[in-house]
Amino acid sequence: MMDTTRRLVGQGCGKLILFGEHAVVWGQPAIVAGLPRGATALVRMAEKASLSIVNGRTGAVHAEVEPKADGSPLEQAYQAMLDILELEGPIGVHVTIDVPIGAGLGSSAAMSVAAARALTQFVGKPMATTEVEAIVARTESIFHGNPSGIDQAAALGGGIFQYTRGTPASIEALWVEPVSVVVTETGPAPSTASLVEGVGRFHDAHPKIASRIDELVGEVVADARTALAKGDWGTVGELMNVNHGLLVSMGVSTPGLDRACHIARAAGALGAKLTGAGGGGCMFALAPESPDEVVRALQEAGFDAFEITIP
Ligand code: MEV
Repeated sequence: MMDTTRRLVGQGCGKLILFGEHAVVWGQPAIVAGLPRGATALVRMAEKASLSIVNGRTGAVHAEVEPKADGSPLEQAYQAMLDILELEGPIGVHVTIDVPIGAGLGSSAAMSVAAARALTQFVGKPMATTEVEAIVARTESIFHGNPSGIDQAAALGGGIFQYTRGTPASIEALWVEPVSVVVTETGPAPSTASLVEGVGRFHDAHPKIASRIDELVGEVVADARTALAKGDWGTVGELMNVNHGLLVSMGVSTPGLDRACHIARAAGALGAKLTGAGGGGCMFALAPESPDEVVRALQEAGFDAFEITIP
């Protein structure tokens, strides 16, 4: 029996893909950091069933949907969560997102994990983690078409790990000393689904070249894993630059992303690359010694840069 007076909270992590986005969809390993910030969901009985998304930085409502309303991906995701848990009635889900939204830092997976965690508690019976995972796998396929599962894995847990797609996926935790990185949004990004489809068209048009590029990304990831374990930040930075170049060749960078990378490197960053699906969205730079200088240079050029420490 559902307790309708309860207000339940769930959380999910944002993510920063350090190496290997896109190639991970094609079976190569990738390295990702789950971020301490992400999404927090509050579930309670309300006047009407709705899912609202609030930008935690500005306090503005980013989106609000009701079940069976507009057919948008967000509404479909909300409906899928209710259907999987067989929930009906005026259930209000309010999610605050503390990473840039739709910009490559895993806001949709963090939102889905936070909402699924809060909703499964709301059902009033113990739910296994695998049920949260099943909900998020469904919502991520609504948002992303053919996701590798890396965003979902990062949203479920923190830390830094190597991820390889599969059934089941392989997740290997990596021990990495905490390090400063600088992140900035560079502009609006199309959906991850459309970017993943675009890379799919690149594979159709140039199958041999595309698979060689994917393999090279896999080699970058292997070397990066060794360099991260040693705290060899110079090598990590060089490999970030190589990975960005390979992403440029897949067609997912933009002038804004390239410009932000150049500014960060010129200000002392050891490396810089796009993170996530690209096409706009976020870039991050490795700046263990001089994060403030990199933040300042990017801000002077008009970017809304900020520093975070990973893991
Ligand atoms: C998106 O955060 C990462 C991509 O590799 C897509 C995916 O792995 O599902 C672009």
